[in-house]
This record gives sequence, C-alpha cells and structure tokens, in this order.
Amino acid sequence: MNILIIFDSLYGHTEKIAHVMQEELSKDHEARMEHVLNIGLGDLAHVDLVIIGSPTNGGSEMEDIKLFLKKISDNALRGKRTAAFDTSVVKENRNPIIGKIIDWFGHAVNRVEGEMIEKGATDVKKESFFVDGETEMLKEGELERARVWARELVK
Ligand SMILES: Cc1cc2nc3c(=O)[nH]c(=O)nc-3n(C[C@H](O)[C@H](O)[C@H](O)COP(=O)(O)O)c2cc1C
Repeated sequence: MNILIIFDSLYGHTEKIAHVMQEELSKDHEARMEHVLNIGLGDLAHVDLVIIGSPTNGGSEMEDIKLFLKKISDNALRGKRTAAFDTSVVKENRNPIIGKIIDWFGHAVNRVEGEMIEKGATDVKKESFFVDGETEMLKEGELERARVWARELVK
C-alpha cells in the first residue's frame, strides 16, 4: 500500500506520533510522512491511504491543515482509505473548568473528519493521542498506542 502521513506540529508531539506511525507502516508498505506545507496538490494521486495529523488548537486543527483540505479538489480523497489523528492535552490534570472548556471545543480530528468527507472520503478512522497537561510530554504509552493504531489502518 502507498501511504502518506500529512502532519503539522508546533511543539513536536504530533510529529513524534506521525514518525512512529511511519516507522511502523514502513515495515510492510511504502509509507512517507510530510509536513503539510511540503505537500503539493499532485502528491495525493497515487496514495492508497491518507493520514492527517494535527495538534488540537482551540478545538480545531492547525490553519495550514485547514487550508490544505480546502485547496485540494472535491474528489481528491474519493476511493482512498483515510484516517485522522490529533494530539490534545489530557483532561485529568486540568482544572475542571478548563477541562469543560476543552471538551466544549472538542478535538481537531472531528473537524478534519468532516473536511475529509467533503473531499470524497467515506470512512475516516479517527484517534486522539494525549499530552500530559503538567509535564507537557506525550503520556506514557502513546507512542506504542500509535503503532498499534497504525497497524489497524492497514488491515
Ligand atoms: C494555542 C493553543 C491552543 C490549544 N488548544 C487546545 C484545545 O482546544 N484542546 C486541547 O485538548 N489541547 C489544546 N492545546 C494543546 C495542544 O493540542 C497539545 O499541546 C498538542 O499536543 C500540541 O501538539 P504539537 O506538539 O504537535 O504542536 C492547545 C495548545 C496551544 C498552544
């Protein structure tokens, strides 16, 4: 399978998740990862599985991911396997009021799913990975969880 992981990342957490997924998928597939700003419109042409990863930023994905999804053609994702993931802060370590606000805004993957469907995707697999709000590091086990999820996507 030809796989493209498109990501954006401000502080590196989303990039780390993308990286372990690419490493895992490369064992049996042609898998590459690219920052969203390095993707040209033609890059999706021969891809079987498109994975988009973004930090959750104010309940939404990063602006460059949004712009990318806006500019690709209406059927760019038709007939392809599709998946989206985000990284978000974990709720337990937050003040309950902030936790509620974060919940209210929601996760980037839900927005990305809708925008991928607008571009022809039919079944977008979604996952969120979590950063510990206190240590500002990916929660323990998240990289392994990303590897397992990546394998699920190619079953
Ligand atoms: C400006 C800003 C807004 C954020 N908004 C949210 C949010 O709405 N919900 C959430 O769960 N996390 C939010 N976060 C936390 C980030 O999603 C989280 O730290 C993410 O892992 C960062 O990914 P990166 O390291 O790839 O940049 C926000 C962080 C920043 C800096």
